[in-house]
Amino acid sequence: MSQPLNADAFREACAQFATGVAIATITAPDGSPHGLTISSFTSVSLHPPLILVCIDYGCTILPYFQNNSHFAVNILNDAQRDLSVRFAMQPEGRFEGVEWRSGLSGAPLIEDALAQFECAVHNMLEAGDHIVLIGRVLKVLSNRGRPLLYFDRAYRTL
Ligand SMILES: Cc1cc2nc3c(=O)[nH]c(=O)nc-3n(C[C@H](O)[C@H](O)[C@H](O)COP(=O)(O)O)c2cc1C
Repeated sequence: MSQPLNADAFREACAQFATGVAIATITAPDGSPHGLTISSFTSVSLHPPLILVCIDYGCTILPYFQNNSHFAVNILNDAQRDLSVRFAMQPEGRFEGVEWRSGLSGAPLIEDALAQFECAVHNMLEAGDHIVLIGRVLKVLSNRGRPLLYFDRAYRTL
C-alpha cells in the first residue's frame, strides 16, 4: 500500500509552478465590494469562453461568490504588489483607497489591472477544501504592462 501523500511535499511541489497573481472580486448583498488575492486563475475554454478560480472553503467571502451570479478577475501588474498583500492579509476594508468601478454585472473592476475578466457563474464544483468556480467570460479588458508573478512562495517580476 502506498504512503499517504505528505502535505509539505505536496505544497513544495506546487510552489514550483510559477503563476501570475489576480484579485477575484464580488459584490456583497449590501452592494459593498469584496475580493481576495488568488493565483489559481486558469483559462479553460474558448468556445464558450470560460475561466476558473479556486476558492478555499475557509475564505470569509466565499458565501458572496456562492450567492451571486457574477464575479470578476483582475490580473495584477508588477506595481500592484501592495494590492496583492492587502487582498490576502487585510481582514476588512480592502477596497478603501483603491480605484475601482462596477463592471456591467456590478462586479468590482480594479483600475489599471493588467487585465479584467467580467464573468457570469457557469458552474461551481466542490473539490476537496476548495470550490472551483468556473466563469463564463462576458467582457474582457487588457492593458499593456508587466505582470506580478508568484513563485516558490515569493513575489517575482519578469
Ligand atoms: C499569491 C497568493 C495567491 C493566493 N491564491 C489563492 C487562491 O487561489 N485561492 C484561495 O482561496 N486563496 C488564495 N490565497 C489566499 C487568500 O488571498 C487569502 O486567504 C484570502 O484573502 C483570505 O480571505 P478572507 O480573509 O476573506 O478569508 C492566495 C494568497 C496569495 C498571497
